[in-house]
Amino acid sequence: MAKGSLSALLVTLCLTWSAANALAADERMAVTLNEKQKAFVLGHMRDMLEALTDTQQLLLEGKREELRQRVANLQTREQANRPNGVGQQIPPAFRAMAQSMRPHWQAIQNPDASEEEVRQHVVDLMRVCNACHRTFSIQ
Ligand code: HEC
Repeated sequence: MAKGSLSALLVTLCLTWSAANALAADERMAVTLNEKQKAFVLGHMRDMLEALTDTQQLLLEGKREELRQRVANLQTREQANRPNGVGQQIPPAFRAMAQSMRPHWQAIQNPDASEEEVRQHVVDLMRVCNACHRTFSIQ
């Protein structure tokens, strides 16, 4: 077997093994929230997924001003719904990861950025979503 395909096989085996392992035992860091805080955080998560879906559609249609509005609405709703004390309840590492989404949302909102640039920021943003989901769970 060629060296390249052997290492590809090993990488695949390792990934499969660690995925199976993660399912068997959830080793993510648990963030404990009260019911109100949990409803807010998970609600905002669903909002972000919807905003990302709309982002894809609006980019396809070239509607950059509507896209700017769409992201602005997401942020307004987040601020309006945020319950008191949620900031103190979440660990600094969680907050830092959440904040690292900011430049990507900003770039997506910018009507002067090229479409290619915006699309790259969408991908980079989604990598942050995935990294956080791999790291934390909510209780
Ligand atoms: C700072 C960490 C973090 C970031 C960044 C993050 N998430 Fe989450 N998200 C979580 C956690 C933790 C959960 C709960 C997962 C669990 O307990 O299994 C969650 C849950 C969700 C859910 C399920 C909501 C429900 O009702 O159960 C969706 C949808 C979601 N995230 C979408 C996204 C999207 C889209 C992004 C990126 C734009 C994103 N998230 C970024 C931490 C994060």
